[in-house]
Amino acid sequence: MRKYIIAGNWKMNMNLSESIALISAIKNSVANEKLNCELVICPPFTNLETASALLKDSNVKLGAQNMYYEENGAFTGEVSAAMLKSVGCKYVILGHSERRTIFGESNQLINKKIKKALSSELLPIFCIGETLEERETGTTFDVVKKQIVEGLSEISETDVLKIVVAYEPVWAIGTGKTASKEQAEEVHLFIRNLLAELYSAEIANEITIQYGGSVKPDNAVELLSQPNIDGALVGGACLKAESFLGIAKAC
Ligand code: PGA
Repeated sequence: MRKYIIAGNWKMNMNLSESIALISAIKNSVANEKLNCELVICPPFTNLETASALLKDSNVKLGAQNMYYEENGAFTGEVSAAMLKSVGCKYVILGHSERRTIFGESNQLINKKIKKALSSELLPIFCIGETLEERETGTTFDVVKKQIVEGLSEISETDVLKIVVAYEPVWAIGTGKTASKEQAEEVHLFIRNLLAELYSAEIANEITIQYGGSVKPDNAVELLSQPNIDGALVGGACLKAESFLGIAKAC
């Protein structure tokens, strides 16, 4: 049975003291809640070690927002999978649309990162999604298919089961515009069917597919009640404990 995963992508927000306050608030609030999901926070690299210490003995898991695929060496400014493991990360977000558009990451680069994460025992949260122009020109399914086929190239059946897919229409990220539940479910079903074609129906059925793009406590229930939406990747609303947990409760 696939599980709901709610992950908070903090992006480039929160200095160390702000992070400590937010993590403590999240941890204290979930201590008294029985949540029907795995809760993950992805703070900036600089705060991961502190986050890991604060989350010790809590059921909130830790993730990073990016990594490089090489083991180590002369890659100024980059962080490796082993480094993320060493500070207690379980997940790593890969291929986020901001990485693709602002930093020029290609499907091929993302594929290398996914492979390295998997071989390092980090679970990738693999992001895909179309831009507004692609949606308006009717190429959403082609774009998403290419991102999946190329992003998952040479990933085995055993490994693909460790991946969380996050469908995030770029036009809905940080814009306050959410995809309707019908628009989101249509693409989620397409992704599930594509995974069934590439692997098998059994495998596709086990893979968590999150929705991301302006998810808030008010729209979480309707999105998460769709048959193929298994969680959320949350940006803006994860920066306050109350709204992040409001989304988690929707599960
Ligand atoms: P948003 O961001 O919730 O602020 O739209 C989502 C994301 O980028 O993962």
